[in-house]
Amino acid sequence: MSDETLSNLLREERRFPPPPELAAAANVTSEVYQRAAADRPAFWAQQARRLSWATEPKQTVDWSNPPFAKWFADGELNVAYNCVDRHVEAGLGDRVALHFEGEPGDTRDLTYAQLKDEVCKAANALTGLGVEKGDRVAIYLPMIPEAVISMLACARIGAPHSVVFGGFSAEALATRIDDADARVVITADGGWRRGKPSALKPAVDEALTRPGAGRVRSVLVVRRTGQDVAWHEGRDVWWHEVVEAQSAEHEPQAFGAEHPLFILYTSGTTGKPKGILHTCGGYLTQVSYTHHAVFDLKPETDVYWCSADIGWVTGHSYIVYGPLSNGATQVIYEGTPDTPHQGRWWEIIGKHRVSLFYTAPTAIRTCMKWGEEIPARFDLSSLRVLGSVGEPINPEAWMWYRKNIGGDRCPIVDTWWQTETGGMMISPLPGVTATKPGSAQTPLPGIAATVVDDEGREVPNGSGGYLVLTEPWPGMLRTIWGDDQRYLDTYWSRFQGRYFAGDGAKKDDDGDIWLLGRVDDVMLVSGHNISTTEVESALVSHPKVAEAAVVGATDPTTGQAIVAFVILRGSAQDSDELTAELRDHVAKALGPIAKPKRILTVAELPKTRSGKIMRRLLRDVAENRELGDVTTLTDSTVMDLIQTKLPTASSED
Ligand code: WT7
Repeated sequence: MSDETLSNLLREERRFPPPPELAAAANVTSEVYQRAAADRPAFWAQQARRLSWATEPKQTVDWSNPPFAKWFADGELNVAYNCVDRHVEAGLGDRVALHFEGEPGDTRDLTYAQLKDEVCKAANALTGLGVEKGDRVAIYLPMIPEAVISMLACARIGAPHSVVFGGFSAEALATRIDDADARVVITADGGWRRGKPSALKPAVDEALTRPGAGRVRSVLVVRRTGQDVAWHEGRDVWWHEVVEAQSAEHEPQAFGAEHPLFILYTSGTTGKPKGILHTCGGYLTQVSYTHHAVFDLKPETDVYWCSADIGWVTGHSYIVYGPLSNGATQVIYEGTPDTPHQGRWWEIIGKHRVSLFYTAPTAIRTCMKWGEEIPARFDLSSLRVLGSVGEPINPEAWMWYRKNIGGDRCPIVDTWWQTETGGMMISPLPGVTATKPGSAQTPLPGIAATVVDDEGREVPNGSGGYLVLTEPWPGMLRTIWGDDQRYLDTYWSRFQGRYFAGDGAKKDDDGDIWLLGRVDDVMLVSGHNISTTEVESALVSHPKVAEAAVVGATDPTTGQAIVAFVILRGSAQDSDELTAELRDHVAKALGPIAKPKRILTVAELPKTRSGKIMRRLLRDVAENRELGDVTTLTDSTVMDLIQTKLPTASSED
């Protein structure tokens, strides 16, 4: 798929073997790959024993009606019991589960015993509000302990939650409440963001005036910021009144392994959001195992921190269900990385002696832009393993992360997965893999993935194509909520019998997998396929570039022309010489065909709240079109800035 001339970046091969001490004591060693591949169901059946089952499953995978999988279908368990109670019963009640850091500087530690009490009280409160097994509950909260407590309380009573990211609009919230037919919403007056209270409750009030969302009967409101809220008597109730009044006794009931655990909506580029459905037993098995294996978690000594928001699948799988099922101690942080100063994250790592840190490439590039002198002021010596997720990490950012955060000693695990996969799928193992900057490398034990061409034939090493998953896996989505046909069409119709992830990928000469971004993000320039990721990667490898976003704009001669939007590093100045230099730099790295036709320097890039660049909007700019929907942007003023830039900043041959 990707042009031959573009493989330069991949050829420049550097490898970082695992640190010997880490390898010697690693949770997972290399022999596991073979054992798992020899009998995948047996491997996953063994991992399912990490959990406490009320009824041990005898069945493993039921794939008799593909692509509708069942895992451990005759087993029964309670997910919240697995994440909380069993640790307390094992004598670990005094272990800290959550070190909460509020943005304004307030802190709160919750031990597993305290978390159990809170979850039980919230479960009793939800039952009191009439929530029964199978009912959907919408959660619209900031990153505060009540978000974790709410999710676990829902899981405990078998009520699937639908977490809606707190940055989404009333409109987006209403659509999701309607689609899942949620009758109870858990929210807060607001959360702290960039030093200011940021309201949430008004968006709920507005959402509930929309036709489809009007069926909600109760809104449970956490007081976080203390800001004024409008109050609907009979519908709205305060958490501190209703939940705090409950008993901390609650008997967890066991549910079938295939009972729905949660729905999480992914935006998709067109059409209404897809409600991705995950169920209990298989999902918990995979997130528990992968968190243990990929972070090499030692729950007695490690302190883990994932900087994602609970509103994304990363927050579900690697803040709530994976780490808590493993009895981990973790940090959760409410705010932005630059409040009150650009070293806030590194300060938190030093304070809690964080040893395992999981973040996104977009955040790493933002920190690169702020400069390496900022993390250098803090004590990061506790770190042991670093993770990355969300998009391809360009080698430049990978190297920066390794050197400036990982002190050149911590392995980086670049974890590829999706909302749909539930858990990590392709990633190095920190005690096994010699890592390569920019590559997610190897399907995890028990996972089968490969790269195929247009006709679905597996490509040889050294070639590119489409990433597919060839065997069912325990954490896989079971369907799109209420729309089995869309589930089939979206994921299972492109390649017969295989799950198509929507990502382009390449296998290098060693067979390691490199992700090339969404296939919708591949440009066709004079008959050559060029991935936006590769051009972005080349631009960011220039010392003056902090971030880049590349799109293909319709061009009368070449079909598409490459247009690049770049953010310069700290002191670099925009000039015609610099744009010429950057264009040559890309040509040198990837070949002349990949040279951007235009380069625009900008101050910010349009991103969704999960950090994904909205190339669709940049294409609108590049093609002088009116802008499409900007409602899922973190900051919609970014687009105004970029547009004003347009007439003067182009540099053309
Ligand atoms: C898409 C899924 C997985 C949790 C957060 C995003 C991209 C994700 C990587 C990675 C390259 C990655 C893919 C994927 N992606 N991780 N390590 N390397 N690309 O979940 O919002 O469902 O997005 O994110 O394009 O398909 P999501």
